[in-house]
Amino acid sequence: MTPTLARRVPFFDYRHAFLSEEEDLVRIFRDVGRRGAFILQEDLARFETNLAQVVDAQFAVGVGNATDGLHLALRAAGIQPGDEVIFPSHTMAATAGAIYFAGAVPVPVECGPDHLIDPEAAAAAVTPRTRAIIPVHLNGRTCAMDELASIAARHGLILIEDAAQALGSRHRGQAAGTFGAAGVFSFYPAKLLGCLGDGGAVVTNDRVMFERLCELRDHGRGTGGEIVGWGLNSRLDNLQAAILDWRLSALPEAVERRRDLARLYEQRLTGLEELTLPPGPDGDPDRYDVFQNYEVEAYDRDRLRDFLQAQGIGTLLPWGGRAVHQCERFQLRASLPSTESLFERLLLLPMNTSLAKEDVHAVCDAIEGFYRST
Ligand SMILES: Cc1ncc(COP(=O)(O)O)c(C=O)c1O
Repeated sequence: MTPTLARRVPFFDYRHAFLSEEEDLVRIFRDVGRRGAFILQEDLARFETNLAQVVDAQFAVGVGNATDGLHLALRAAGIQPGDEVIFPSHTMAATAGAIYFAGAVPVPVECGPDHLIDPEAAAAAVTPRTRAIIPVHLNGRTCAMDELASIAARHGLILIEDAAQALGSRHRGQAAGTFGAAGVFSFYPAKLLGCLGDGGAVVTNDRVMFERLCELRDHGRGTGGEIVGWGLNSRLDNLQAAILDWRLSALPEAVERRRDLARLYEQRLTGLEELTLPPGPDGDPDRYDVFQNYEVEAYDRDRLRDFLQAQGIGTLLPWGGRAVHQCERFQLRASLPSTESLFERLLLLPMNTSLAKEDVHAVCDAIEGFYRST
């Protein structure tokens, strides 16, 4: 089969993330620079206030990235060495890394057909040493929070949400990140709300958790600058916060654009029996998904991926193609057959706000062309 190059569609265009807003970004940089406002300044405080408001949380704390956010949230929640923390194996290694570096034991469990943590598997993994569950709202869709909250309540467990991919996502009107003790967002450039580097935030409704997080991210300093305990250095840069605050107001439109693109993927690809699509944006009145990613299950995935690449269409294997428990050096020693089987089929199609509808059509044309010819 000789592919014809119709329209190049990169998976994500990092240059576009700057060039499309270059003038405003330079204006913000100049403003922050001229004020010398680099660390823990008013732009960060304003962004934290606005972010908390967007998700209806009482507090938000800007941190260096979501990995640190998870780590600090676990520490602030009092997780101790040897405690077990349950998480879905279909997630970034960051979720497990945060547990590990908090001194706890990462316990990976299966995900269900929606690619999110399977509540039954989570319940079955609870032991007397379990202290917390980290649901991961992967691809911008909230997990089964009712079931998970009741499991947590039954066993006295802490819920910390990995909402790195889910800013703006809602479940029965409640925002991702606000169901448990704390929720963590990532502002990595390719995220729903991205900055020009690394960034993250933790939201919480618990004042004690908030105060601990503020100390932990800033060398253990209290409000007067005095050292009140051990801490790390993981502050969201004031410059990044200024950029994020400016971009935050455009988040609802950016999310709607992604949902439109997801609708188009669904219209074009429904009925192609070689693909299993994610739940569509209008499929569940209880959920408002934000489509950080468009993750499909594809028959003959690797050949499809090569074919698309030859057509100039970028796709991604989630986490490089392996679930967390499949990394041997982590020595997690779990057997999770559903997740392992899923990882033979998973593929991320291009999904971001710089995509035009024509790009989605080009991706779908190419996918149809591939399956028609095999
Ligand atoms: C589900 C999930 N958790 C955690 C992270 C880590 O985020 P960060 O890169 O901001 O540390 C990511 C980033 O991609 C993620 O997707």
